[in-house]
Amino acid sequence: MAKKYVIQGQKILKGEIEINGAKNAALPAICATLLAPGEHKLKRVPRVRDVFCMLKIMKHLGAEVIFENSTLKIDTSKINKYTVPYELASQIRASVLFLGALVGITKEAEVPQPGGCSIGKRPIDLHIKGLELLGSEITLVHGNLIVKNSGLRGCEIVLDFPSVTATENLMMAAALAEGETIIRNCAKEPEVFFLGEMLKKMGVKIKGHGTDTIVIKGKKKLHPVEIEVIPDRIEAGTYMVISALFEENEVVLKNFCVEYLETPILKLKEIGAEFEKVGKKSFIVKKKPPLKNTKIVTAPYPGFPTDLQPIFAVLLTQANGVSIITENLFENRFLYVYELNRMGAKIDVENRTAVITGPTKLVGSPVKATDLRAGAALVIAGLLAENTTTVYEVELIERGYESIVEKLKKVGAEIEVVEGGIEDS
Ligand code: UD1
Repeated sequence: MAKKYVIQGQKILKGEIEINGAKNAALPAICATLLAPGEHKLKRVPRVRDVFCMLKIMKHLGAEVIFENSTLKIDTSKINKYTVPYELASQIRASVLFLGALVGITKEAEVPQPGGCSIGKRPIDLHIKGLELLGSEITLVHGNLIVKNSGLRGCEIVLDFPSVTATENLMMAAALAEGETIIRNCAKEPEVFFLGEMLKKMGVKIKGHGTDTIVIKGKKKLHPVEIEVIPDRIEAGTYMVISALFEENEVVLKNFCVEYLETPILKLKEIGAEFEKVGKKSFIVKKKPPLKNTKIVTAPYPGFPTDLQPIFAVLLTQANGVSIITENLFENRFLYVYELNRMGAKIDVENRTAVITGPTKLVGSPVKATDLRAGAALVIAGLLAENTTTVYEVELIERGYESIVEKLKKVGAEIEVVEGGIEDS
């Protein structure tokens, strides 16, 4: 049965919110356990739909999985299949990460080519080019990528764009390749750094992860690891904005890493918020009116993250003047705008630019999530708006936010999960 969130807006939020482990760090880490047969233990793994979907694929391949609370035990010693089923892969874009993990452990693997998704085309040419340079042969047969190799060899790869999952795929493949691989112009995201640390723990000689050049000396045999997933910077950024919605709000964000969020934090301060450290890894974010308009340009890390632009767009509807958001990564990431406008926002979109005129009063209405972050943005709009907002297609939000409803309720939000989708009403 489909679900919806029903939100009574304009409630003051006070209390603590614990930040989970990062979805985008957990997903490649789960794949990387394939590189070393044996029992791995991943701690602080978020209980979100994308993780559960990835684990279904792991079980299909032959892994034994125990997921209790946030600790994930994966035994990869009995992997006996190297084909990722379309029914599961089609639910999660990150299934493309199985390419890099499987190519090193078998001579032939099959992974469905991911299609486009609502935020854009999302090609994988960089993944394929890099894996071919490492010595694999890739052909597309009936929508599936057949990856063959007779031994991977280290090489030099220059990425045309610092793609996150392409960098991660190539790191995993290079970890088992013979000799040295140098990946230039690679992604510098904290999640890429984390994967590098995990590979290092597994026995790979790796340096430069977290910079634009990674050097990897492959090793034939790696060993299983125990590692804790880094905090989710996008989840933390989302709750920061929620805390900054009303002057009386006082939300303490617990257990996250401010260094991962330097650019969005600077932006939030520029718009009108104060940060106060209230513990070793805890912060309080407070609105400091009047909110000022700004310009946001999304870019690879350490630039402004594309995943946070819909979240900031909601706050900017409350800022004085005209704000401009330029989306440089995904061509279709403004679909949430039409729903926000139905709530009273004034946003014009042309190609990759959204022009937000503020401040505008938001009034509750039924709205539909179009993707994960768009969905979170609509929940924020519901918290801000007068009256009742009903958010449909919330399964998309649960792909990446663990217990979002419980967390918000705990700090005083009036939000309920109600059974029924648009088709049922
Ligand atoms: C990852 C994140 C996603 C985040 C995105 C950008 C995971 C599981 N997902 O996605 O949540 O929104 O980074 O921070 O970590 N590109 C190509 N060819 C390729 C690969 C990418 O042209 O082969 C382009 C894309 O179309 C896009 C840009 O590169 O314009 C960046 O995308 P990329 O970094 O690859 O995003 P993902 O790794 O898919």
